[in-house]
Amino acid sequence: MHGRLILYSGPMSLSLLCLSSTCGTTGRWECEQDACLMESDMINGINRGNYGWRASNYSQLYGMTLDEGIKYRLGTQRPSKTIMNMNEMQNEQLPQYFNSTEKWPGKIHEPLDQGNCAASWAFSTAAVASDRISIQSMGHMTPQLSPQNLISCDTRNQGGCAGGRIDGAWWYLRRRGVVTEDCYPYLPPQQTPAEASRCMMQSRSIGRGKRQATQRCPNSHNYHNDIYQSTPPYRLSTNEKEIMKEIKENGPVQAIMEVHEDFFVYKSGIYKHTDVSFTKPPQYRKHGTHSVRITGWGEEKNYDGTARKYWIAANSWGKNWGENGFFRIARGENECEIEAFVIGVWGRITMEDMHKHPHHHRRRHI
Ligand SMILES: *[C@@H]1O[C@H](CO)[C@@H](O)[C@H](O)[C@H]1NC(C)=O
Ligand SMILES: *[C@@H]1O[C@H](CO)[C@@H](O)[C@H](O)[C@H]1NC(C)=O
Repeated sequence: MHGRLILYSGPMSLSLLCLSSTCGTTGRWECEQDACLMESDMINGINRGNYGWRASNYSQLYGMTLDEGIKYRLGTQRPSKTIMNMNEMQNEQLPQYFNSTEKWPGKIHEPLDQGNCAASWAFSTAAVASDRISIQSMGHMTPQLSPQNLISCDTRNQGGCAGGRIDGAWWYLRRRGVVTEDCYPYLPPQQTPAEASRCMMQSRSIGRGKRQATQRCPNSHNYHNDIYQSTPPYRLSTNEKEIMKEIKENGPVQAIMEVHEDFFVYKSGIYKHTDVSFTKPPQYRKHGTHSVRITGWGEEKNYDGTARKYWIAANSWGKNWGENGFFRIARGENECEIEAFVIGVWGRITMEDMHKHPHHHRRRHI
């Protein structure tokens, strides 16, 4: 197959034909077959249409193809049909609006940035565990757990920055535990020599399932190398009300979602996958599996009085993507399968932990 070529000003080199990273790079041939992550047709189509959300051109994603976005920016494998326990649903009044960040100030962590590392499996797991431990310990501990600890050390059947499984990540958090982001900071793969990405934090059992680090934090500061663990995760039913009840009572949950081409340009509003690329060739319409953290919900009234219900969720594409790193997505209709596989978890917190960690304030609060 040959794509139609678009000539940009600058030196011509036939060897650069159809390079996969030519999106917007000037001075190169660009192969029209490669859909870009930031397609102006798509951005303009969304902003001209009445879709309920706005799109933006992100400079940090500029120059990437859609294939690269799906390959490097997501990174969660679809879970197998593991059966986990389900709770009985009780009839209960749920508020129209609920926002974990308001209910538990200082305990809901800011979205991190996975960069071009397909490790949303590690980022979403660490983020949900961080919030849950902070809520459950009533703020005695507010650790921001380290995704890098998972990426580098939870390597059994995991792909690191090439994607991984959340059930494996939860197994690791429960059996081995991880340290904080301050202790084991994130190492973007492009800036990291291969030897630095090997596992630099191990733990050993100190009885009753608890573990202790056997190494110092892999950085020059002297942060605490406390190990944080979780209990086994539990899967919620796909019922909207049950997911809401769980968030309100216990804190943010983890959700798997299918990311489509238009999600990368999301800026604000209530996201729903749009039809702006439906008439385009198939390479413009792609999707991949991602995982995120749902932190709340709400609804917006339409002019006719009907409501548009949404989830509030945190992504892991940094704070300048979306609504300060968060996004809102249609609720109650399994948009992008976000209600299909939702996970909750408890931290492993003892009275001893509560005494060891007097209330203290950390810098990474919202
Ligand atoms: C996005 O921004 C870049 C740099 O500011 C600009 O050159 C490019 O044309 C924009 N692309 C789209 C799709 O709007
Ligand atoms: C949730 O609460 C935080 C803190 O008050 C606020 O900044 C954010 O905008 C709220 N999110 C939504 C979607 O209302």
